[in-house]
Amino acid sequence: MRLGVLASGRGSNLRNLVARGFEVVGVVTNRPSCGAAEFAREEGLALGEFAQKDHPSHEARDGAMRDWLIARQVDLVVNAGYDRILTAGFIAPFAGRIINIHPSLLPAFAGSMHAVEQALASGVAVTGCTVHLVTEEVDAGPILLQEPVPILPGDDRASLHERIQVAEHRLLPQAIQLMSERLAQTRTALG
Ligand code: GRF
Repeated sequence: MRLGVLASGRGSNLRNLVARGFEVVGVVTNRPSCGAAEFAREEGLALGEFAQKDHPSHEARDGAMRDWLIARQVDLVVNAGYDRILTAGFIAPFAGRIINIHPSLLPAFAGSMHAVEQALASGVAVTGCTVHLVTEEVDAGPILLQEPVPILPGDDRASLHERIQVAEHRLLPQAIQLMSERLAQTRTALG
């Protein structure tokens, strides 16, 4: 299955997907100097750089990203640490074929860029990560898979996020596999 990966950060999820042999046919970033973009260059992966400053609006930027991914015949779009809300014009052609990984057990701490800190501050004993389908409502699309991660005495943001990422590196590949099976079934049903 041909994956397009959207990333703005360190890129550990992207690295994990490549290490596990997933077919990443394109990486899209809005932050050309991020770790994920550097990794894409090192690996010789096709890299689409879409800094907001090069586009007149969010819609224009997302439209350019969408067209770039469509040209690469992407089957599934994977948000792996992409830090902007996708506009309707991006989502529409990929509806049901965009997934996102979020570092909490949704719906807890939905829509937050600080879900790990918020879990610590809230006093919950368990947090985790969620892979869900992307819809226009942020972090609210149908949940595909979740994995709990206990909060341990003495945890800080860094230690907790590190353990959540270990779980993410298991969960995201499982979710892609699940989507691959579902999309294959849909194709069969359509004949
Ligand atoms: C992950 O924790 C993910 O849940 C969140 O952003 C982070 C990306 O990490 N959406 P990385 O860039 O893949 O290391």
